[in-house]
Amino acid sequence: MTCALVVPAAGRGERLGAGLPKALVPLAGEPLLVHALRRALASGVVDVVVVVAPEGRQEHVRALLGPLGAADVRVVAGGAERQDSVRCGLAALPPGVDVVLVHDAARCLTPPAVFRAVVAAVRGGAVAVVPVLPVSDTVKRVAGDVVLETVDRRELVAVQTPQGFDPAPLRAAHEAARGATGAAPATDDAGMLEALGHRVRTVPGDDTAFKVTRPVDLVLAEALLSGGRA
Ligand code: C5P
Repeated sequence: MTCALVVPAAGRGERLGAGLPKALVPLAGEPLLVHALRRALASGVVDVVVVVAPEGRQEHVRALLGPLGAADVRVVAGGAERQDSVRCGLAALPPGVDVVLVHDAARCLTPPAVFRAVVAAVRGGAVAVVPVLPVSDTVKRVAGDVVLETVDRRELVAVQTPQGFDPAPLRAAHEAARGATGAAPATDDAGMLEALGHRVRTVPGDDTAFKVTRPVDLVLAEALLSGGRA
């Protein structure tokens, strides 16, 4: 049994405003990507790591990951959209993988237990697994600045990563999405499997698995680390 972790880390991260690809933005002195991988490897369930690096940064990323001591780390170049980057990562997987995890570098504080729960659910027979949290805000559908309706939040969850997959349907979903002209690029891999009719299962997510997107998220992540909460 081999579990491979694909980390799309090739985004520009413009919303963070740090002037660096987001995965390389420092948090308590280390890039977000290093924080994310350290926690993934501490889960004890990851055998192979494929990092999809920002354009022109492959050697830099390889050097960053050396000290983490993972047995099999591969670094590949990314694509224009997140889904292109994940597809580049999937192409670098070795044969014999029974679980693929896809994890955003930006969810850098995701605890090891979430990785273990996702892998266990895939090995328990699920085709696709996502960690989720209840939605605490009231959510409304809008058109411009006009509210159309209020959505019943009891039916909603917020979805995190790592998302876990049976490799063959994940690859097929990426190939299908690649061929789909005019469709909006997917922001989440499980959504591509849903579109093909696969059942996606949930496991509990974690508050500390939030995605560092805006400057305030970095402040929160620093506070959690310095307070020993992540
Ligand atoms: O931009 P966003 O926060 O949604 O990106 C989610 C993850 O996907 C990030 O870790 C980012 O580095 C990655 N990404 C990528 N290739 C892209 C765009 C985003 O690997 N072209």
